[in-house]
Amino acid sequence: MELEFRTTSPLKEASELLAVPVFQSREDLVGLAAELDQALGGILSRARSRGDFRGREEDSLLLYASEEEGPARVAFLGAGPQDEMDADLIRRVAGRAVRLAEANSVTQLSFLVPQGNGEGVNVHDVAYRVQAAAEGMALASWDFRELVSEKDPEEEDGPPPLVTEGWLHLDSSAQDPEEVDGDGAVRTGHAVAEGQNLARDLQWRPGNVATPTHLGWVAEQLADAYGFGSRILGPGELEEEGMEALLSVSRGSDEEPRFIVLEHRGAGDDVPMVALVGKGLTFDTGGVSLKPAKGMESMKYDMSGGAAVLGAMKTVGLLQLPINVVGVVPSSENMVNGSANKPGDVIGTRAGKTVEVINTDAEGRLILADALSYTVDHFSPAAVVDCATLTGACVVALGHHAAALLGTDDDLMDELRAAGDRSGERCWPLPLWKPYRKQLESTVADLKNVGGRPAGSITAGWFLSEFVGSTSWAHLDIAGTAYGESDRPYHRKGGFGFPTRLLAEWLLARSS
Ligand code: BES
Ligand code: MN
Ligand code: ZN
Repeated sequence: MELEFRTTSPLKEASELLAVPVFQSREDLVGLAAELDQALGGILSRARSRGDFRGREEDSLLLYASEEEGPARVAFLGAGPQDEMDADLIRRVAGRAVRLAEANSVTQLSFLVPQGNGEGVNVHDVAYRVQAAAEGMALASWDFRELVSEKDPEEEDGPPPLVTEGWLHLDSSAQDPEEVDGDGAVRTGHAVAEGQNLARDLQWRPGNVATPTHLGWVAEQLADAYGFGSRILGPGELEEEGMEALLSVSRGSDEEPRFIVLEHRGAGDDVPMVALVGKGLTFDTGGVSLKPAKGMESMKYDMSGGAAVLGAMKTVGLLQLPINVVGVVPSSENMVNGSANKPGDVIGTRAGKTVEVINTDAEGRLILADALSYTVDHFSPAAVVDCATLTGACVVALGHHAAALLGTDDDLMDELRAAGDRSGERCWPLPLWKPYRKQLESTVADLKNVGGRPAGSITAGWFLSEFVGSTSWAHLDIAGTAYGESDRPYHRKGGFGFPTRLLAEWLLARSS
């Protein structure tokens, strides 16, 4: 979609639909909402006084303006209590505006970025509100349509056209739009959303399309488009690198593994790298420790971590951020054949440690072990952040509203917490205390790949930590947040591209 920051009044510009957020309040309307209400003969005031439109997040009111100039349609969208406004509220309202446009087959949308009256409004600055609105609009106007046959709009009920043009406005009664770097904010928000949209494309593609080879190909496209250095390793090179753990998982499948490395150098050579590592398991059957059939189709999302890393790299490329960052994605299927890992097998790893494979379904930590040791050895990064749909236990612990955060560096974890809050992709810490380590002790190898049922996300984190040496490292378990079964205001049910925005915000913060 095309996004543009406009400094003119949205009442004076011809548009298809103008969406105006209205907070939940008993007080009189102010600013542009009041002006619009007056122009529309007081309809909003009457709807408010009758209690039909209370400004709750689920409220909306679509009206048709009569003026020749200005918007053809006006939508008032409830935005909840003003003192609860945060950046994600803005993304959500912007997303609802896009859905309303879609429902009316309108492809151009003007959006008034909510500002509040300055009282009780959260810490985010105006520019960040514009960025969040841009994100919400560009995320909501994405859909995955590449695998459905094109329908004749005259004959069949095809899906509505997507919104292609978005204009962002500020209420000049609260803030002079000329004083805000709106263009920069829109550019940043758009780039973040484009990164997340790529992540969702990759997630939504089924296992037979988004294979490890496909992810490698997409990574090469990114390298070409944004000038990244790239290495896409295949089986022979993995052998040479000694990535026995990744190879052992991929041996159960006919699809070749890929090990993806994208390198962006936006800062001086003396500035240390930061590294993003994402699990790119393109389909997880569980292997010999086979998963139940019910719901197994959602294991196409087991590459969500890798998708988010590629998405965040796209954002980095679009904005050419002044940082050095490497994105690493180990990619494989976890299938069953005569060569597949078996429970009880002892395998080697790139780092030299041996692992007893208790359960072949704990494959993510195996491919990540090799990826983490490769990353710390080749790049000596100042910080490594990995993200992975790693454990069902994470879903039990935190449900669908926060990723689990574990790591070896409290400052890094604080940075990620802050990036999570800002981006609306939140994460919450679990303790990586020493006593949990005991659960991974093996009688025949250096480590077991499973630490039993208690604290499954923590023992998985402990396993990974064995492969980062003394490097500052944090891990995000995104099993509960990467995808979901119901629509969200700016996401359709399916892959959510989580945590692309969190990673992008973290990199943005580190580059400023
Ligand atoms: N990909 C799964 C984790 C997962 C579960 C992601 C549910 C999304 C939703 C991972 O490879 C896995 O199977 N983990 C096992 C580990 C266990 C065998 C120790 C799990 O969590 O059941
Ligand atoms: Mn698994
Ligand atoms: Zn898995």
